[in-house]
Amino acid sequence: KMKLNIALLAGDGIGPEVIDQAVKVCDAIAKKYHHDINWKPALTGAAAIDAVGEPYPDETHEICANADAVLFGAIGHPRFDNDPSAKVRPEQGLLKMRQKLGLFANVRPTFTFPSLIDKSPLKRDRIEGTDLIILRELTGGIYFGERGRKDDGNTAYDTMTYKRFEIERLAKKGFDMAMKRSKKLCCVDKANVLESSRLWRETVQGMEKDYPEVEVTYEFIDAVAMRLIQWPKGYDVIITANLFGDILTDEASVIAGSMGLMPSSSVGSKVSLYEPIHGSYPQAAGKDIANPLATVLSAAMLFEDMNMTEEAEEIRRVVNKSLAEGYVTEDLADGGKSYKTSEVGDWLASNI
Ligand code: IPM
Ligand code: MN
Repeated sequence: KMKLNIALLAGDGIGPEVIDQAVKVCDAIAKKYHHDINWKPALTGAAAIDAVGEPYPDETHEICANADAVLFGAIGHPRFDNDPSAKVRPEQGLLKMRQKLGLFANVRPTFTFPSLIDKSPLKRDRIEGTDLIILRELTGGIYFGERGRKDDGNTAYDTMTYKRFEIERLAKKGFDMAMKRSKKLCCVDKANVLESSRLWRETVQGMEKDYPEVEVTYEFIDAVAMRLIQWPKGYDVIITANLFGDILTDEASVIAGSMGLMPSSSVGSKVSLYEPIHGSYPQAAGKDIANPLATVLSAAMLFEDMNMTEEAEEIRRVVNKSLAEGYVTEDLADGGKSYKTSEVGDWLASNI
C-alpha cells in the first residue's frame, strides 16, 4: 500500500480533458491495489497567465517540488502564437518548470501497438516490433542559450551551448538504460558542423570505457531523421540534444500511428514529471474528442518509476484492450465508430 502525492498540472487546450481521464484511470488503479493518491492541482500555462500573470507561478513550483511526481497535460494557446511581441508566453512556463525542477532528461519511448500497425503511414514490416527510446537533453542547449536581437531588431540569435557535465549526466542515463536493454546506444548530433556537438562526441567517447559492454554509435541528426522512419528497428537508445530530440520525437510518433499515443517522463535529481508528447491541440479543446491515451500511458510510466510494475502493466493492458476492441477516439477510428475522450476514460477505468 502506497501513499502518493501527485501534483496535477492540467494546463491549456486539451490538457484538462486528457488529464481528467488519466486521473480516472489512476484512481481506479489506486482502488484496485489499495493505494492512496492525493492529487494536488496547480496552475500552469495560459491558464496561469490569465489567473496570476505568470505561466509557472511560485505556488505551482512549491506544489511540484514537494510532490512525489508531477502529472502534466499540455501547454500553449494560439493567441500567443500569433503575437510575436507577447512578453509572457505559456511555453516559458514549461521551460521554467523543467529548469527549476532540474528535469534534465526526457525519456520518450517509441513502440508500436499490434492493433494499430496499419494506422501508421509506414509499412508494416518496417515498423512492427519497434521498441526504442529517445533520451532528449531537456534543460540545456539552444532552448536555454543566450538569445536576443541586435541591429535595431534586424538580427536575431539563439545560441546552442553545452557544458560537459550536462552531456555527461544525460549520457550516463543513456548508458544505464542501454545496459538494461539491448546494450546499444546511439549518440545523435551534428558534429560535422557544430562545436557543441563535437563536445558531445568527445564526452560520450570518454565514457565508453566505463561501459565496455555497450556498443556506441555516432550518427548525424540529418541522417537519423531519415533512418529513423526508414528502419526504426535499427535503433534502441538514442541520446541527443534538446532541439534535436524535440524534432526526432515528433517524427518518431508517426511510427506508433498517432501523436495521441506517445507518453514521456522527464527526470532529474528530484521529482519526475510525466506528460504526453503532444501539445495543447487548441482546435480540439473543449470538444471532448482528444485522445487521452498518451496521458494515460504517461501515468503508467509514473507507476513504473515508483516500482509499481503491476500497476503500470495493468494500465498498459487496459489501453491495449481498448485499442484492440476499437474503443477509441476519432483520430484512431478511421471514420468508423469513435468515442468521446471522457467515454474512453470511463471505459478504461471501469475495465481495471
Ligand atoms: C515538447 C514541446 C515543447 C518543447 C514546447 C511546447 C515548448 O514541443 O515538449 O516537445 O519544444 O520542448
Ligand atoms: Mn515537441
